[in-house]
Amino acid sequence: MLEIAIDRDQPAAEFYADLTASAVALVDGEPDAIANMANIAALIWQYMPDLNWAGFYRRIDDELVLGPFQGKTACIRIAIGAGVCGTAAATGEVQRVADVHAFPGHIACDAESRSELVVPVVRQGKLIGVLDLDSPLPDRFQPADESGMVKLIGAIADNLG
Ligand code: SME
Repeated sequence: MLEIAIDRDQPAAEFYADLTASAVALVDGEPDAIANMANIAALIWQYMPDLNWAGFYRRIDDELVLGPFQGKTACIRIAIGAGVCGTAAATGEVQRVADVHAFPGHIACDAESRSELVVPVVRQGKLIGVLDLDSPLPDRFQPADESGMVKLIGAIADNLG
């Protein structure tokens, strides 16, 4: 098994460079999308502080369907356009939400969630799902988290679908 050790206390750019390198190494040569999503959710959960949920929803027909994740049990199906995840899927744009209570239609899977980052997963021009990160802290996700996660997902998207 791959040995991974990432310093959580280093500056964001270095942290995300290390996290992305580990993510790339984890999915390298493995075509099974579910296995890869499971390991990436676990990697993020282990190394990113202050999360209460980290995982994937997969686009299946016109819905998002719960995929591999870490955290409490969650909503299984989300309509494209609904909530934070559905908005990311409908627009293809990252949703970085400082206060989920202020987001119209936010779906509260866990009442403890206060802020959220959702990154569309696009493979060969097609949206295949979203990465969803939730935090119990308000305004947990900063621009550096958004850009770091976008690069990470972009580096491994071919192995997620
Ligand atoms: N809060 C999300 C739903 C997914 S759960 O948080 C895991 C949303 O509004 O899309």
